[in-house]
Amino acid sequence: MRIAVFSTKPFDRRFLDGANEDHGHELRYLEARLNEDTAVLAQGCEAVCPFVNDDVGAPVVEHLARQGIRLIALRSAGFNHVDLRAAEAQGLTVSRVPAYSPYAVAEHAVGLVLNLNRKLHRAHQRVREGNFALDGLLGFDLHGRTVSVLGTGKIGAVFARIMLGFGCRVLAHDPYPSDELKAVGVEYVDLEAALAQGDVVALHLPLTPGTHHLVDAEAIDRMKDGVMLINTSRGGLVDTRAVIDGLKSGRIGGLGLDVYEEEADLFFEDLSDTVIQDDVFARLLTFPNVLITGHQGFFTRDALENIARTTLENATAFESGRGTLHEVTLADVQGR
Ligand code: NAI
Repeated sequence: MRIAVFSTKPFDRRFLDGANEDHGHELRYLEARLNEDTAVLAQGCEAVCPFVNDDVGAPVVEHLARQGIRLIALRSAGFNHVDLRAAEAQGLTVSRVPAYSPYAVAEHAVGLVLNLNRKLHRAHQRVREGNFALDGLLGFDLHGRTVSVLGTGKIGAVFARIMLGFGCRVLAHDPYPSDELKAVGVEYVDLEAALAQGDVVALHLPLTPGTHHLVDAEAIDRMKDGVMLINTSRGGLVDTRAVIDGLKSGRIGGLGLDVYEEEADLFFEDLSDTVIQDDVFARLLTFPNVLITGHQGFFTRDALENIARTTLENATAFESGRGTLHEVTLADVQGR
């Protein structure tokens, strides 16, 4: 089928072209982000393939439907950027890549924990400048510390197992506890206990209306003094201004982010020659104990191969009725 691939980067083209050798779809690569102005670029296609910061809200969905688009083939696990109600109303199918590599994101989250704890990013800069002083680089043993994992789906489960391997006590909070994780020593507790007891609190749950700003001023107040907060899931889970207050007061001792509430205007682009207009983001960058990466948790060769393969398999399954179509429906949001 003809598929308009929005927000295309060179790496998307490379992996999608590779996977498409097994499918033979006609891929129209577009650098533009999908939004109300650019939806027209999908004219003549039967499917669009958006990425995480594309706008797939109701007006865009309606525009796409008018153009004859029948499938929104997301090349991501998250689908919070899609108006599923509008898609259902317009008779559009939405597919996603439910599990391309939980290891990629979980390992990145662990990287943020290790880096923040031992200040590797700062140490690297110092050593390059011939500064071998250790002041300011003091960390703590992860062994024996308590790590709270909010959301133990595919990524959270891998993260929890890695932290168990470090000798941490792992607490988890999830409406659907995993027997496998319990069997290896993860303790399920309520949100209150997870927030209150974690030396590290890691977010691995989806962004839904119910989880928006899950980490707000009140939640931060309930956390341990000096807690390390890790978010590789979606920026909207965290109230960034409340987190800045927490960093200023010292309540939050370390912040590792791979996602940011307003990332759509920043991430995935080289803005090094421009002045960043987002003052909240700019403030975050001033803290020595904040480490931010630009939504790269998924960015491993293995994950990109799986994303490309599953995205095109979804399109083939939709078109031919053969194979598995990883469809997202309203029930995925409402039922959980
Ligand atoms: P998943 O669907 O396998 O797991 C999510 C888990 O969160 C489920 O077990 C669910 O029951 C739980 N959950 C839902 N609401 C909850 C709540 N209120 N409190 C506690 N737990 C709750 O999802 P997966 O694949 O593990 O992804 C997790 C997150 O990672 C998603 O937000 C996704 O968008 C994000 N992600 C980030 C990437 C990156 O590059 N940084 C790449 C891929 C995913």
